Amino acid sequence: MYKIVEKEHFSENVVKLIVEAPMIAQSRRPGHFVIVRTGEGGERIPLTISAADTVKGTITLVVQAIGESTRKICALEIGDCFTDIVGPLGQATHIENVGTVVCCGGGVGVAPLLPIIKAMKEAGNRVVSILAARTSDLIILEKEVSEYSDEVIIMTDDGSKGQKGLVTAGVESVINREKVDLVVAIGPAVMMKFVSLTTKKYDIPTMVSLNTIMVDGTGMCGACRVTVDGKTKFVCIDGPEFDAHKVDFDEMIMRLRAYN
Ligand code: FES
Repeated sequence: MYKIVEKEHFSENVVKLIVEAPMIAQSRRPGHFVIVRTGEGGERIPLTISAADTVKGTITLVVQAIGESTRKICALEIGDCFTDIVGPLGQATHIENVGTVVCCGGGVGVAPLLPIIKAMKEAGNRVVSILAARTSDLIILEKEVSEYSDEVIIMTDDGSKGQKGLVTAGVESVINREKVDLVVAIGPAVMMKFVSLTTKKYDIPTMVSLNTIMVDGTGMCGACRVTVDGKTKFVCIDGPEFDAHKVDFDEMIMRLRAYN
């Protein structure tokens, strides 16, 4: 059950795992996530499904080692198994042909963004993808993103790859040269906040996928709650995607920091 059949290191702390999970592979849609555990009593870690193969019955997960549990996951090798995987969870992404979609991924946020890029392209949209990271070695999945994008823009904080600057500069450069109908942003909360502030200036609909703390993933514990349009929402059952212009990012960032 849930055996790891492939493993690839994207960088020192970011690992791609392909895992046997045939039923999840069959029913997952872009935007869905799973909660995984390693070891009885292990911490429940939410991970977005970045791809699935219904023939092989596998799902692809991208994991960044940032704490004890994610370090344990990243240390798993081919042949090892997850103790359990629950999913697919959350609401699938709403995909339609809107025209031009700018998809922005920050760091490992590119992994959950990939199935959305693919689905947006397959729906007939022009897709401009912006991949952003601190340095060139933290840019992941560039080849896969290129396959489904009309254009890929790389932004790095230090200029070691692509253009030097933040993701918001890349978004603004596209907005200034062509009509953009939708922006999708997935990455660190601060990055999504500033992409949202940028697109708000131009009144461009923007969708974000929130990465809050989660425990049960079924709407019972309240750990993932966020305020959207003045109302409490649970990321695990109402999201993970929301209208960026309605999300209270400052509250979300404060709650994430409290956990640290
Ligand atoms: Fe418990 Fe969402 S993770 S309510």
